[in-house]
Amino acid sequence: MQNITFNNGNTMPQLGLGVFRVENDDTAKNAVKHAIINGYRSIDAALVYANEEMVGQGIQEGIAAAGIQREDLFITSKLWLNHYGKDNVQEGYETSLSNLGLDYLDLYLIHWPGTNESLMLETWEGMEVLYNEGKVKNIGVSNFTIEQLELLEAKTTIKPVINQVEFHPYFTQESLRNYLASASIQMESWSPLMNAEILTDETINAIADETGKSPAQIVIRWNIEHGVVTIPKSVTPHRIEENINVFDFSLTEAQINRIDALNQDKRIGPNPTEFNG
Ligand SMILES: NC(=O)c1ccc[n+]([C@@H]2O[C@H](COP(=O)([O-])OP(=O)(O)OC[C@H]3O[C@@H](n4cnc5c(N)ncnc54)[C@H](OP(=O)(O)O)[C@@H]3O)[C@@H](O)[C@H]2O)c1
Repeated sequence: MQNITFNNGNTMPQLGLGVFRVENDDTAKNAVKHAIINGYRSIDAALVYANEEMVGQGIQEGIAAAGIQREDLFITSKLWLNHYGKDNVQEGYETSLSNLGLDYLDLYLIHWPGTNESLMLETWEGMEVLYNEGKVKNIGVSNFTIEQLELLEAKTTIKPVINQVEFHPYFTQESLRNYLASASIQMESWSPLMNAEILTDETINAIADETGKSPAQIVIRWNIEHGVVTIPKSVTPHRIEENINVFDFSLTEAQINRIDALNQDKRIGPNPTEFNG
C-alpha cells in the first residue's frame, strides 16, 4: 500500500475503505474484515454512520485473520455536530473509541464545519487538546472551505493534517485542491465514485476499455495520480478486491486531462457553508 506523509511527519495509506450507509450488522463486520484480509490498512468510520460497533468487530476479526497488529491499521472517525464546543470533543471521541472497541484513533476529524464560526474554532481547540494529550495520533477536518481553513490558521495553533471533501470527476475542486497543496494540508476524497453514478460516464468507460481496467479502478487511480487520499465504499467482496487493485498501472497525462475535463462543479452532497447537521 502506498502511503502519503502529513505536515506533522506521520503517514496514512492513500487508499482505504469507506463505511457510510452500511448496516450495523454482519454487513459492516464482513466488509471491514474482507478489506483487511485483502490488504486494506485504512478504514474511514464516523459516529454518525451508526455502525462503529460492527466496524470495530470487523477490525478485530480482520486483525486476527490477516495476522497483523492494531498498529498496522489506520483508523479514522469523525466528531458529529452534537459534540461541538471545546469541552464536548473529548466525550465524542471517547464514544467513538468505546463503540469501535479501540484505545486510540489514528485520525479524528471534525465532520462538518457547521454554520457557527466561533463554535467551529472552539471545537478545533478541543481537537487540539486531544492531540496535545496524545490521545489521538492526528487531527483533521472534513468539508472545510478555503475561508474556514484560513480562519483556523489565523486563530488556532495546530494545522489540520487533512481535509476530507467531496471529490470526483464531476466535482474536481481545483481551487481547493491547489490551496490545500500550498498549505501542506492533505486532500482526501469522499464519494470518490460519486456513489456509483460516475461509473456509467462515457469517458471513464472509454479509458477503462483502453487500459483493460474497470471504471471504478480508473476513477480510484485518477485520485491516486492526483495525490489524493481516497476511501471508496463497498460491501461487495469482489468490488472491495477490485478497488484496491489499482497500484499495478498508471494513467497517461492525456487520460488524466480527459477525466479532469469532466468537471461540472456538480455536488452530490450538501454545501458545507450551509450544512448544520
Ligand atoms: N466526510 C463526509 O462528509 C463524507 C460524506 C460522504 C462519504 N464519506 C466517506 O466516503 C466514503 C465513500 O463515499 P460513499 O460511500 O458516499 O460513495 P462511493 O464510495 O463514491 O460509492 C459507493 C457506491 O459505489 C458502489 N461501488 C463501490 N465499488 C464499486 C465497483 N468497483 N464497481 C461498481 N460499484 C461499486 C458501492 O456499492 P456496494 O457497496 O453495494 O458494492 C456503493 O453503492 C463513505 O463510505 C464515507 O466513509 C464522508
